Amino acid sequence: MGNSFKAKIIFIVVIFFIAVLSSFLPSCKSSFDKETISDSIPVAPWYGWNKYQIKPEDTLVRLGHDLIENTSYYFGPKGKVAAITNGMNCQNCHMQGGIIPWGNNFSAVIISYPKFSNRSGKMMSISRRINDCFERSLNGSAIDTNSHEMQAIIAYMHWVGDDVPRGKKPLGSGIMKLKYLDRAADPVKGQIVFINNCQKCHGKNGEGKFNEDASGFIYPPLWGPNSFNTGAGFYRISNLAGFIKNNMPFEESNYEHPKLTDEEAWDVAAFIDSQPRPLIKNKIDYPDISKKEIDNPTGPYSDTFSELQHKYGPYKPIAEALQLKKNID
Ligand code: HEC
Ligand code: HEC
Repeated sequence: MGNSFKAKIIFIVVIFFIAVLSSFLPSCKSSFDKETISDSIPVAPWYGWNKYQIKPEDTLVRLGHDLIENTSYYFGPKGKVAAITNGMNCQNCHMQGGIIPWGNNFSAVIISYPKFSNRSGKMMSISRRINDCFERSLNGSAIDTNSHEMQAIIAYMHWVGDDVPRGKKPLGSGIMKLKYLDRAADPVKGQIVFINNCQKCHGKNGEGKFNEDASGFIYPPLWGPNSFNTGAGFYRISNLAGFIKNNMPFEESNYEHPKLTDEEAWDVAAFIDSQPRPLIKNKIDYPDISKKEIDNPTGPYSDTFSELQHKYGPYKPIAEALQLKKNID
């Protein structure tokens, strides 16, 4: 008797909960629907504000923007603050100050950091990430985290990402991931792409072109002593190819009107990264080697594919082997 009474109570309680829950359902559903809709209908990619929209009184943001656009003036070989970089500007690789879809933009920076970094094996702050670009892409040294300049760059990142809701990267953030080719990317074919589309600005030897007083570049270098080093993001050809496809040749292409095909972008990226460049110093990356990206060009690896295949592909067999391993684990 007592048991069936208890059962009845439980039954009523369960029905009550279902009723309460279902009364919440419409709101749950609508937010769920929003998610699926935004994934299935075309959404315009994110564009950031442009520099003219920085309020005059936002002097720290303005300085941050200037540091991104004219990095060499502050930190280049004749830098006003310190001479600690290769003379490139952040903006050479983060198009228009990091506000262009698939132009290596900064839309997701503020919502992403601090975050765990496989490269360092540690939690990474935003200033550490910025200093990574100083040490690798600008082949220079880190700047003081507490410096006015670092605080200005962070303030600028906040300004750029101000309208980006937490939790989901906007469409077009960072660099586009191109589909893997069925073959290895080919530096020999890439050289032809380079001669026909890039050499006129970046120079026969990828050396770029200095401005008159040699304080910075008009056309930034693609390899050689003044280029990014072997620890930089562009030393992975998926990053470089995705950037080139949507942004180069300069002012002739963007994500809506790319000039190169995917194949040409992969091949020219392979060519550029087959050329000599500065070596990264004093860094031990990827303490857990199984966390290296597929196209990381520097061994050792946790699989049996060669360094050459990791650098140029074909990547599909590596990706499949990785998937298989994941399924077994
Ligand atoms: C030679 C090209 C190059 C230059 C110059 C460069 N960067 Fe980068 N930067 C990259 C690439 C490539 C990535 C993405 C790497 C990846 O995802 O693996 C990146 C990523 C970043 C990120 C992280 C973005 C994110 O969403 O996680 C920040 C922040 C950043 N750069 C800031 C800067 C700043 C500030 C400067 C100048 C001091 C600078 N970068 C100069 C190429 C460059
Ligand atoms: C009309 C001149 C011009 C042409 C042609 C051109 N670029 Fe560029 N490239 C630039 C300029 C200018 C920048 C820097 C953009 C900025 O600072 O706003 C740049 C930046 C780059 C960068 C990032 C910075 C660096 O030096 O690492 C890469 C990579 C690059 N170009 C590759 C290419 C490739 C590959 C081609 C050919 C498919 C090409 N470019 C064609 C002018 C050109």
